[in-house]
Amino acid sequence: MVTIAIANQKGGVGKTTTAVNLASYMAASGRNVLLVDIDPQGNASSGLGVMPSRDRPNSYQLIMGEEIDRKALLHPTKLRKLFLIPASIDLVGCEIELANSQDREIRLKKALSHFEGDFSYCIIDCPPSLGVLTVNALVAARWLIVPVQCEYYALEGLAKLLKTVEIVKKRFNSQLQIAGFVLTMYDARTRLSKEIVEEVRRHFPDRCFSTLIPRNVRLCEAPSYGLPILLYDAKSSGAEAYKKLTLEVLKRCAKAG
Ligand SMILES: Nc1ncnc2c1ncn2[C@@H]1O[C@H](COP(=O)(O)OP(=O)(O)O)[C@@H](O)[C@H]1O
Ligand SMILES: [Mg+2]
Repeated sequence: MVTIAIANQKGGVGKTTTAVNLASYMAASGRNVLLVDIDPQGNASSGLGVMPSRDRPNSYQLIMGEEIDRKALLHPTKLRKLFLIPASIDLVGCEIELANSQDREIRLKKALSHFEGDFSYCIIDCPPSLGVLTVNALVAARWLIVPVQCEYYALEGLAKLLKTVEIVKKRFNSQLQIAGFVLTMYDARTRLSKEIVEEVRRHFPDRCFSTLIPRNVRLCEAPSYGLPILLYDAKSSGAEAYKKLTLEVLKRCAKAG
């Protein structure tokens, strides 16, 4: 199982949209995919039509190591090969509840190891912070994808994220690598978008995916129907972009090494 974390401590940059649609296109192309929502807001869960609830098995229980039936954690989605471990608002407590735990950074990694044989890919949608949940995702992951919004201050905070990656690599997970930066909400009509793309590519010449995700209203409508873009409007520009991005990601993250 190849695990990919989608992270950026900034909110609203397209993490969840990227996680849901990447996972969906991977599943549509025949891979068994597990999407794990560890954001207490649960947008990836609701975006796939599963309302986050503390009453159903969820990622909080997974991380806290509660005794639960492993199979019950896996929620089916409208795509046969895509399964979801939904979030719960209880995740907001993890920071404090795990503060004194010896193994607080490696909880998710341990828990996900039980699913190793069942899935080819595991995508983790992170919350907008660099706290214990995101660190757990980075420890569990082989690859990191960083969505970057084509807006002012796009690069703000990236240095801090990269520093966190270095610490995680040194202390917990030497395998972790940045698969790439994805430029999201690109608007070809604006000069700003073009400038941001140039700037990010200049800073990270080898690490930017060539697919640009356009600003596309269909991408923000789809979650309110609980559908990934490929089931909501497969012909939209947003759908085509995520399909293309998925091919790039599969190429880059296919094998360990
Ligand atoms: N390419 C896009 N075009 C238009 N709207 C988008 C696009 N990507 C994301 N959005 C919208 O922007 C908001 C933030 O995106 P989201 O993926 O939830 O970001 P994050 O998970 O980083 O907070 C959501 O309302 C989402 O629907
Ligand atoms: Mg999100």
